[in-house]
Amino acid sequence: MLKSLLRKKPIYQVIKDSDYEASSHSEHGLKKSLTVVDLTSFGIAAVIGAGIFSTIGSAAHHGGPAVSLLFVFTAIACGFSALCYAQFASTIPASGSAYTYAYASLGELVAWIIGWTLIMEYAIGNIAVAISWSDYFTALLYQYNIPFPAYFSMDFVTAKKGYAIVQPLLASGLSFDQLAAQNVSQASILGYEAYRTAPQVFGLPIVGDLPAVAINILATWIVYIGIKESKQVANAMVLLKILIVFLVIGVGVFYIRPENLSPFAPNGLSGVLKGISGVFFAYIGFDAISTTAEECKDPKRDLPRAMFYALGICTVLYVLISLVLTGVVSYKDLNVGDPLAYVFGPEGANVPWVSAVVSGSAIVALFSVLLVFQLGQPRIWMVMGRDGLLPKKFAELHPTYKTPWFSTIITGVLVGLPCLFMNLTEVTDLTSIGTLFAFFIVSIGVLFMDETKAKFKVPYVNGRWFFPPVYLLLFYYIFTSRPELLSGGATLGDSVIFFVYLLFMTGLLFFTLMKQWSLIPLLGATTCSYLMTELGVVNWTRFGLWLAVGLVLYFSYGRKKSKLAHDSR
Ligand code: ALA
Repeated sequence: MLKSLLRKKPIYQVIKDSDYEASSHSEHGLKKSLTVVDLTSFGIAAVIGAGIFSTIGSAAHHGGPAVSLLFVFTAIACGFSALCYAQFASTIPASGSAYTYAYASLGELVAWIIGWTLIMEYAIGNIAVAISWSDYFTALLYQYNIPFPAYFSMDFVTAKKGYAIVQPLLASGLSFDQLAAQNVSQASILGYEAYRTAPQVFGLPIVGDLPAVAINILATWIVYIGIKESKQVANAMVLLKILIVFLVIGVGVFYIRPENLSPFAPNGLSGVLKGISGVFFAYIGFDAISTTAEECKDPKRDLPRAMFYALGICTVLYVLISLVLTGVVSYKDLNVGDPLAYVFGPEGANVPWVSAVVSGSAIVALFSVLLVFQLGQPRIWMVMGRDGLLPKKFAELHPTYKTPWFSTIITGVLVGLPCLFMNLTEVTDLTSIGTLFAFFIVSIGVLFMDETKAKFKVPYVNGRWFFPPVYLLLFYYIFTSRPELLSGGATLGDSVIFFVYLLFMTGLLFFTLMKQWSLIPLLGATTCSYLMTELGVVNWTRFGLWLAVGLVLYFSYGRKKSKLAHDSR
């Protein structure tokens, strides 16, 4: 039993299964058309999106200007994992990303878990992006006085919450104008309106985010008809997106008021750390490049390069943007859904044309993210279908478009339906915890892979000498920044999370001393798992439930139907 769970897919088999050699000469495989520029552009298309257009607002509101340092720290954590992704991608130029890498290094069970977890990154992440797109879209409609029913622009829970806040205040005799003085947000008032005016079926208000569903259908269709079309659309949009980010930085820098940048961390470290989920979400996507390995002209050379170009460019832009935002207006005012446009509004620099251009372009920017993730998810399922862990239908290519048509449609449904009723913060948190887990596994996987065929290798530094001080510093930092963990004042959930983390890190230290493991993958695993510990008990519980469902599916289907299981009989 244990042997079957740990069965690994040999690297030559991965490449053979992907039909890599054959497809360059035949019509049966995916089309090979992507260059390093396309891939970098693809990465940026996936990375710059809802994170920098939306979630940065709340992160900056909690952390103040110091959130720029969180962007740097998170980029470093992503950089360690990117090196590991790059080693895998240069050795195994096949679709499937972390799933494929785990299959070749850590065995089938871990591979399945990763494949299952990547759904949180790609499909659930795309729900967040679609919801965010819809928010910008409806805000733009309202800006131009184009009516759109509020009950078709948000999820049911948000509307119900807004109603629960606003209705009693109105019933107590307050007017709408007086609500602002009670700190009632515009979003709550919109929620109230949506819930109150929604059509009812059997007394239940019908509320759902229709623009989010519509944009998801459009993205699914573009991805369904083929990689070439998707690539051209993504390339055009990414250029526009970078220009807009330059515009915000270039104009915003002239409106920075130094007093806004001091104090630099008004809510201390805990305030900065509240932004982890949103900030990390802003980086998700550079790894999506690796899912297109079968469609690259030269995957071994271009994949690692493109990942670093994308990550580097985005980090510089993010740090600059976070300094500009918190420099132009006070961090206190930044808890808005459209911070990039907001800082150029009347409360900030008051440059209306920039505000309008940014709002309009956010719609384009978010669509390009949607497209890349909508492209990545089916390709992971395609590989899992080939391996027998999912039904064969998931691996089928469309006879004309050469795209995994069935997986693409299932992705569209899986993203589209929850768009109607899920809440943005919840999906962002779920995406971040799932993706951090995938990065963590990829970092660990490098320690176990046969690197003789790797064209790009993570530079080796002996962890035996450098990891012990990292371990000691980490725990010194954790216990000084969260003294409640030692004094017994922490909640049971938090204590359990940190106790397990402590155990895990101690195990990692032990094996590093014994086996002289490489430092960079260790740092990738350490930073990603640390960021996970900061995401809280609720997210860990949801993540645990998700994993449990995945394990039930694996043991009832994948383990028996696995191609490796059949080959070994
Ligand atoms: N990084 C992507 C975004 O911010 C997921 O939208």
